Parts: sequence; structure tokens; C-alpha cells
Amino acid sequence: MEIRFLGHSAFELTHDGVTVLIDPFLTGNPKAAASAEEVAADAILVTHGHGDHVGDTVAIAKRTGASVLAIVEIAEEFRGDGVEKVHDPNLGGTVHFGWGSAKLVPAWHTSTTPKGTVNTPAGLIVTIGSSTIYHLGDTSLFGDLELIGRRHAIDVALIPIGGHYTMDREDAVEAARMIGARQVIPCHYDTFPPIVTDAQAFAADVENSTASEVIVLAPGERHAP
Ligand code: NI
Ligand code: MN
Repeated sequence: MEIRFLGHSAFELTHDGVTVLIDPFLTGNPKAAASAEEVAADAILVTHGHGDHVGDTVAIAKRTGASVLAIVEIAEEFRGDGVEKVHDPNLGGTVHFGWGSAKLVPAWHTSTTPKGTVNTPAGLIVTIGSSTIYHLGDTSLFGDLELIGRRHAIDVALIPIGGHYTMDREDAVEAARMIGARQVIPCHYDTFPPIVTDAQAFAADVENSTASEVIVLAPGERHAP
């Protein structure tokens, strides 16, 4: 299994010829490491409805025929937009695919799609190959991160650290401690001026105060956990 950081909160997971995209915001993303026209996708997982997460989901799904998973209100919007294979769980729900599974867990944030559909934001627990990946979505620090970390043995946590719209890098250290992932990859920073932060300082703080290893990926870089 390999993780490629596509910039901002967008990731590509590949395993055994299967490609799973999470929050593929590429068009208009100043840090995008790929274009919406070139990425492959068997499945697209969306944490919440904000434009910097929904991104190019509909266009990529239509071009590739990928299955799309999002919380029910966003899923319904995707169906209306002509996406054919849509999965519509709610918080707590797990959807099984041929390649693994995806579960929606809580995130503390707000969310309305660019088209105006109000929805509850989520995080994603993704199993692919023998790895469990936790994409936190956009969230503040909250106590149930500890519960999620207890319930799932997380190999890699994808944690927002940019502040302003999400937890900042200091709160993200506490989040990493609570989740207890084997490895942590920071995201959702340096894309826009309000979320510029010091990822190396975050990495040092996490490694000094938790058992997690931090991998800071530049957009386009890959990591095999
Ligand atoms: Ni958001
Ligand atoms: Mn965001």
C-alpha cells in the first residue's frame, strides 16, 4: 500500500492496482500535485462538503466510473449530479468494497457544499491491503479522538495542522497522542495564507511527546507505511 499526498487534504491510496482518492480537491488547489484529468480512481471518499474537499469528485467519478462514498446528504447531491455508483452511509457506518472498507466517524466542523447542501462533516477510517488509515477530515481537537484510536489500530493518521479552519499544530500534537497511530502525516496546511504553519515543528513535537512517527510529505511525495 502506498500513500501519495496530492496537496491540501487530498490523498491517493494505491494497493494491488486499486486507486482510492480522498478529498480530491485539485482544480483551484495551489498545492495540487496532479490534475483532475490525469488521476486514476476506483473509489473516491469525501469527508465533508466544503469545496476544498469535494473538489473534483464529480468530474473524476464521471471520467473514471469510480464509486463515490460520502455522508448521505452529500451522496444524494452526487447522485443528482449524475454520479452512478454512490455509497451513502452516515456516521458510524462502514461500507465494504472489493479492496477494503471505509467508515465514517465524527469530526467537529461545519459543512455546506458549494451548491448549498448542508451536511455533517466526518472523518474516514479506511482499510486497504493490511493498512488502516484514519483521515480526520477537517476538525477541531475533541475528546472522542481517543475513543476512535482505541477502537481502531491506526497505522497512519492524516491530521490537519493548519489552524484557522481546523485544529492548529499544537492541538494536533494532542490529537496525535490521543489517536496513537503508528505513523502521522500532517495535512491541511500551507495551502492558503491563513493556514500557513511549521510542519517540521509539529513533527518534532509529536515525536518528542508521543510514540508516533511523523512523515512530512511535500505535495506529490509518496509514503509506504
Ligand atoms: Ni472544511
Ligand atoms: Mn478544509
